[in-house]
Amino acid sequence: MDNILVKNILVGISGGIAAYKSAELVRLFKKAGYEVRVCMTAGACEFITPLTLQALSGNPVHSALLDTEAEAGMGHIELARWADLVIIAPATADLMARLRAGMANDLLSTVVLATDAPVHIAPAMNQQMWAHPATQENVAVLQQRHKLHGPAAGEQACGDVGYGRMLEPQEIYDGVIRSFGDRKLSGHRLLITAGPTREPLDPVRYLTNRSSGKMGYAIAEAASAMGAQVVLVSGPTRLSVSNSIKRITIETAEEMLAAVTNEVANADLFIAAAAVSDYRLKSVSSTKMKKNKDSNVLQLDLVENPDVLATTSHANPDLFTVGFAAETNDVIKYASGKLIKKGLDLIVANQVGADKGFDVETNQVDILTADGNHHVLPEMNKSLLAYEILAIICQYYLATDTSDT
Ligand code: PMT
Repeated sequence: MDNILVKNILVGISGGIAAYKSAELVRLFKKAGYEVRVCMTAGACEFITPLTLQALSGNPVHSALLDTEAEAGMGHIELARWADLVIIAPATADLMARLRAGMANDLLSTVVLATDAPVHIAPAMNQQMWAHPATQENVAVLQQRHKLHGPAAGEQACGDVGYGRMLEPQEIYDGVIRSFGDRKLSGHRLLITAGPTREPLDPVRYLTNRSSGKMGYAIAEAASAMGAQVVLVSGPTRLSVSNSIKRITIETAEEMLAAVTNEVANADLFIAAAAVSDYRLKSVSSTKMKKNKDSNVLQLDLVENPDVLATTSHANPDLFTVGFAAETNDVIKYASGKLIKKGLDLIVANQVGADKGFDVETNQVDILTADGNHHVLPEMNKSLLAYEILAIICQYYLATDTSDT
């Protein structure tokens, strides 16, 4: 069973007053299911104890470059290889100068030189130090090699006001997760369905489900941020959407199929996150249905709706097609069946039920691929999960893409 693309995160901490905030950053990554190790400079150990970071990360903290015990266990090269991603927060002016010069005079700078993982940097320093031409020159060089997060402007611990404050841990965390799919979908065209459908019973009543549209909209926003041209076919929701996304609103499953069929010729990738009603009323009443005076039972004749996803995937065998499976039980078994039956490249399986999947802020998914791979993603906020899902989709979709983009 494969796991998430980024599994091991190394949090580097250098010696600034913002070091205490790194404890929260470590907690956020751990909570989301990542394996976290911490590497501290000598200065960082003056601001926050390694013991705190050890307790939060669940792993010994690394700080010494030349430590025979550490070298026997996880030395600097192993640590550099272990990391799928390095985030340094806070990064002081001194550390940034050393990284810019490619120095390796402590464990953290050595690991940055020795790793091929992406390195993220969250600077934190006095506003005068940040504005100094020497720092700005270092920033310009480091920006070409690494991803910088912040700094923010505001009041500083020293009383100054200006740029140099470290971003809040949540902002750094969000920035790191969002970077997983950086502009990977530039030039690609995505068609996405989201939200519920509404199947009318009469002019004032309808059949529907609990889908809020949050999952599908999060995927649409993430895909757009990753550079894709996005068309979103949406059932009724309360959500708004960025101007960069073309939204087509529909009510019924038949309308969703018509909209998708209309748009699919211009799509490279189709993701069906909508919760489509499997049935509709056989004949919709043109006037408000009245209570039956002779019986307290109302029987409705339902007919099967078209399957938007299966119809689209079977009619467009070259289209990369991703479905969702919403199941209350035997999630993987049913999702595998839908993957095959609906002719999909990949399926995102989520367990649904009371307070799960539908109309909540977080979600936990498993992703199954047509060639038998299985990825497990931890429970997280849907807007961040969308980036993780797309990063995995890209791994397979981009491998099959033959366009010039
Ligand atoms: O919208 P939220 O509140 O954020 O909730 C998110 C979600 C739980 C709705 C979402 O994560 C999800 O699971 N979406 C799919 C819901 C669903 O209808 O699953 P299903 O297992 O019944 O259908 C399988 C697939 O076939 C889905 O991709 C569905 O879009 C598609 N389908 C189903 C029936 C049908 N008639 N046409 C379809 O296209």
